[in-house]
Amino acid sequence: MSEKIFEVDHLSLHYLTRFGEKVHAVTDVSFSMKQGEILGIAGESGCGKSTLVSGLMGMCIPPLYPTSGDVRVNGESLMNRSESDIRSNVLAQKISMIPQGAFNALNPVRKIKDIAADVIAAHQKQGSPSSAKEIYQRLCERFDLFGMDTQRVLNSYPIQLTAGERQRSVIGISTLLNPRMVIADEPTSALDVSTQKEVIKMIFDLLEKGIFSTMIFITHELPLLYHVADNIAIMYAGEFVEMGTAEQVVKDPRHPYTQALMGAMLSSESSQRSRKPVAIEGAPPSLSQTMVGCRFAERCTRACPDCKKNTQSIRMVGDRLVRCDYAK
Ligand SMILES: Nc1ncnc2c1ncn2[C@@H]1O[C@H](COP(=O)(O)OP(=O)(O)OP(=O)(O)O)[C@@H](O)[C@H]1O
Ligand SMILES: [Mg+2]
Repeated sequence: MSEKIFEVDHLSLHYLTRFGEKVHAVTDVSFSMKQGEILGIAGESGCGKSTLVSGLMGMCIPPLYPTSGDVRVNGESLMNRSESDIRSNVLAQKISMIPQGAFNALNPVRKIKDIAADVIAAHQKQGSPSSAKEIYQRLCERFDLFGMDTQRVLNSYPIQLTAGERQRSVIGISTLLNPRMVIADEPTSALDVSTQKEVIKMIFDLLEKGIFSTMIFITHELPLLYHVADNIAIMYAGEFVEMGTAEQVVKDPRHPYTQALMGAMLSSESSQRSRKPVAIEGAPPSLSQTMVGCRFAERCTRACPDCKKNTQSIRMVGDRLVRCDYAK
């Protein structure tokens, strides 16, 4: 059996607002990953996906705080470590993130080649290219591999590039040190459809070439995850509500929220083209209130009075996990 390279145990995270209010953005998330696995995470806007990513990288920077739980990479805990320790010993080498908005991730007053050099310098380690010349050479090789107009892109400021070139540059830079694991947080959300396809192809080319082997891929698009992920977790109001193989979650969802989410998607099956998506009525609960009972109960068409009283624990239903006492 292959070893677990990434383990998350009952992770809960909160923001502390300047009014002293706690926003419980992530609650009781547990999962583990083996080398070579792709986990997809999907859920509505504001359900805590990006906050979870910060926690998974050990980057709980105020106003975000760990409430409880643990995250381990190769058995080594990332919790309660300083930001500088995480930046110099974990990020870019063990875990790298492809962020949601490439433009915000790139310093607008530095050329792409200088941004890359800064990133590498911050993570200088054994096996990393050491001199500026070596860094530049590896950058060129990597950008060539992506089929980019390498010299022009490297010598440009972010504003001079297209959105696709910026996102590809971010992916190139964040995977330059061949991290074991990549977390892609909605890497295509700001791109047009054809650029989205190119960027996704590029990420999977990197996987195929063994530049990294394990990935968490976050998106709103469940049908995309069905094609690219081994396992899928569905997040709602800070919690994982269902987790199983891509086939189980997409083709045979058991949590009422996953079922509603699938119903809200336009089907890509040709036989079902006339089907209309069904919107999920209502809105998720505020994450700053104390939540009692099932967090989806207010919107669930099958909720009974007990659902609003009893907090649901995630449990095995067949061979997948579901956070609903009534799921079969
Ligand atoms: N700095 C902050 N202070 C307080 N609350 C915050 C802060 N940043 C995010 N939140 C809240 O935490 C919750 C989770 O936000 P998060 O950005 O993680 O969601 P998301 O699932 O990534 O959404 P999206 O799909 O839009 O990217 C939201 O309710 C959000 O308002
Ligand atoms: Mg997000």
